[in-house]
Amino acid sequence: MRAYGFKSNGGTEVLEEIRVPTPAPGPGQVLIEVAYAGVNFAEVQHRRGEFGEPDGPGGYDVPGLEVSGTVVALGSGAPGPPVGEQVAAYLPAFGGYAEFAVADADFVRPVRGLPLASAAGVPCVYPTAYGVLADAGRIRDGETVLIHAAAGGVGSAAARIARTLGASRVFGTVGSLEKAEQAAALGYDALFIREGFADAVQEATAGRGVDLVLDPVGGPVRRASLQALSPFGRVVVYGDLGRHADWTADVWDLWKNSRAIAGYNIGDVARRSPATIGDHLSRALSALASGALPHDRPAVVPWAEVAQVHGRFEAGDTHGKTVLDIAGRGAV
Ligand SMILES: NC(=O)c1ccc[n+]([C@@H]2O[C@H](COP(=O)([O-])OP(=O)(O)OC[C@H]3O[C@@H](n4cnc5c(N)ncnc54)[C@H](OP(=O)(O)O)[C@@H]3O)[C@@H](O)[C@H]2O)c1
Repeated sequence: MRAYGFKSNGGTEVLEEIRVPTPAPGPGQVLIEVAYAGVNFAEVQHRRGEFGEPDGPGGYDVPGLEVSGTVVALGSGAPGPPVGEQVAAYLPAFGGYAEFAVADADFVRPVRGLPLASAAGVPCVYPTAYGVLADAGRIRDGETVLIHAAAGGVGSAAARIARTLGASRVFGTVGSLEKAEQAAALGYDALFIREGFADAVQEATAGRGVDLVLDPVGGPVRRASLQALSPFGRVVVYGDLGRHADWTADVWDLWKNSRAIAGYNIGDVARRSPATIGDHLSRALSALASGALPHDRPAVVPWAEVAQVHGRFEAGDTHGKTVLDIAGRGAV
């Protein structure tokens, strides 16, 4: 089958079109003929080597954490979905930038009433957004939320979901005025430029701060996020876009100021509580199909442009979701 992969870590130039054996579904797995593959910042990190060196078939790793497509075979004991069903799947072991992908049935859910192009951007992003808001962030009715990288894939899903989980006000930070314009349709109460956001948050909340901050950025943004919390506020750490050196939080600062830091990692949750991911994926797909969650159409990009798309992610030059058109169906 055709795939895009890399056999050494590096810049976008290491991504190449390759031919690799079509994977066979193992016990409890589903083989999917891929229609669209969602692109995630984590795949940039994978390519750069932040998850280790490639060690797949022929020495290549094929990135890709989420896909939509059609079930074409079931491994032994896989409960479904049946052959022929249109599905979305989270792929914790990667492999989505390919004509076929195998997924554990735990992470595969039927797609009904939602375009397959849109569904490809759901399986990694939406369970992460539910996880950071509800599982790690323990959001409660009436709370205020601040979302960093507010126009991004996870950020834009979290903005929509936060309202359905009871948030009273949802704020976001972005890197530029252009991004603020792009995020405006997502229903934020206010958007702030990330530089100096803590003062803007204090002003917007009359000095109280916010109950919950979602932080995939790290470094100085993480430190300032702690300062932007209300009493019993939580910062959920779920990424480090800026590749900052790690830092040690001052426990005195946390207990003297009634603040908390929580962490979230979808790969960890998928290993230790797979049903949690499947449940969040089902919930997201049905909320998007019913209109309970607004459905923002992704940018659909020809598969051959994957290196340019990675470059745009690294430059912070994307918003919303971008999906690769693997089967040549176009934007449907
Ligand atoms: N822990 C987990 O389980 C989990 C799961 C999924 C994703 N994530 C993390 O969530 C984050 C967002 O992922 P995504 O796929 O949805 O990407 P994305 O938000 O669509 O794109 C990244 C955005 O982050 C902002 N940004 C800030 N600093 C940046 C930097 N140094 N380099 C590049 N962009 C920067 C940019 O927006 P501005 O212009 O607004 O700055 C950029 O558009 C990533 O850190 C990813 O690793 C974590």
